[in-house]
Amino acid sequence: MAKAATAAKSRANMTDLAHLEHETLAAIAASADEAALELVRVNALGKKGTISALLATLGKMSPDERKTAGAAINALKDTVSAALAARRGLLKEAALEARLKSETLDVTLPVRETGIETGRLHPISQVMDELTAIFADLGFSIAEGPDIEADFYNFTALNFPDGHPAREMHDTFFFNPDEHGERKLLRTHTSTAQVRTMMSVKPPIRVICPGRVYRSDWDQTHLPMFHQVEGLVIDRSAHMGQLKWILEEFCKAFFEIPNVKMRMRPSFFPFTEPSMEVDIQCSRQGREIRFGEGHDWMEILGCGMVHPNVLRNCGLDPEEYQGFAWGMGIERIAMLKYGMDDLRPFVGGDLRWLQHYGFRPLDFPTLAGGLSA
Ligand code: DAH
Repeated sequence: MAKAATAAKSRANMTDLAHLEHETLAAIAASADEAALELVRVNALGKKGTISALLATLGKMSPDERKTAGAAINALKDTVSAALAARRGLLKEAALEARLKSETLDVTLPVRETGIETGRLHPISQVMDELTAIFADLGFSIAEGPDIEADFYNFTALNFPDGHPAREMHDTFFFNPDEHGERKLLRTHTSTAQVRTMMSVKPPIRVICPGRVYRSDWDQTHLPMFHQVEGLVIDRSAHMGQLKWILEEFCKAFFEIPNVKMRMRPSFFPFTEPSMEVDIQCSRQGREIRFGEGHDWMEILGCGMVHPNVLRNCGLDPEEYQGFAWGMGIERIAMLKYGMDDLRPFVGGDLRWLQHYGFRPLDFPTLAGGLSA
């Protein structure tokens, strides 16, 4: 009877074990990730786990019982451990696979540009940077002056006498007279910077002054606000040969051509004597203009030897100092270099135009690295 009871009990135990095994293996198979699997492991094999509890009952069994039950429980433990290890391996692999998938880079996709790459520098800013690079290399520094000027700096000091017709040619924007009766104006040319420099710097002087100028004129080839760059050299022996060389070097560097032919035509400016206009050689085919070749000429700037009256007006003795100067329109040279045929888009604010004609802000022009590359 006692034997039969033990056998029955052990059979029941065996069914329990089979049931536990079935349940645990099912839980292992159902674990979706390593954390869930760890929970199943703790529930079965942890200190308070189901299988650990069964193992703890072995001590109270008779040696016979222990023999069969011990083998069965240990077999269950081995089966569960093996299933856990297998499932852990699978889950690890799947997790790695998923991670690799999520971290895949398609190196053939185009780069997504940031603002600093998509933004464009206006051609005027670009050309000013180019001019600065070229003239800095020739030993020039940058001079600046205000946009709102006194008549003295714009006209009188530059040898435009009162009532001189050249004043009228400048289409000047005047302000209303102030309480002293003085009429300020918007500078009509960057030659004002010559005066300010000569009055404040002891020669030798070598400066360029790029900046805004204003004239009351507006059509396809004129804007009421545009840009010029002025050049000025003053010392004891500055002469026209140097002027010509500097302008040639400038044209070669700016238009990025190995040779340039220039010609100087006599002209008139109140502040220079003699005065000249400079043309450079070019070829024209339809609207296309190329420099450094051809049989045509294109006017690009005005220049001359600084008039003795101007030196005197600026406090320099014309017996001791002499110099030369030149001035040119920045829009004009930008249009010539970059093939633009209308001036108005420069102030049109059309982003499509800027995308097309603008420059990458990080490609700063240098003589060594290329001006417009
Ligand atoms: N200021 C002149 C203009 O606006 C340009 C110019 C011509 C400047 C001759 C000069 C120069 O310095 O020497 O038309």
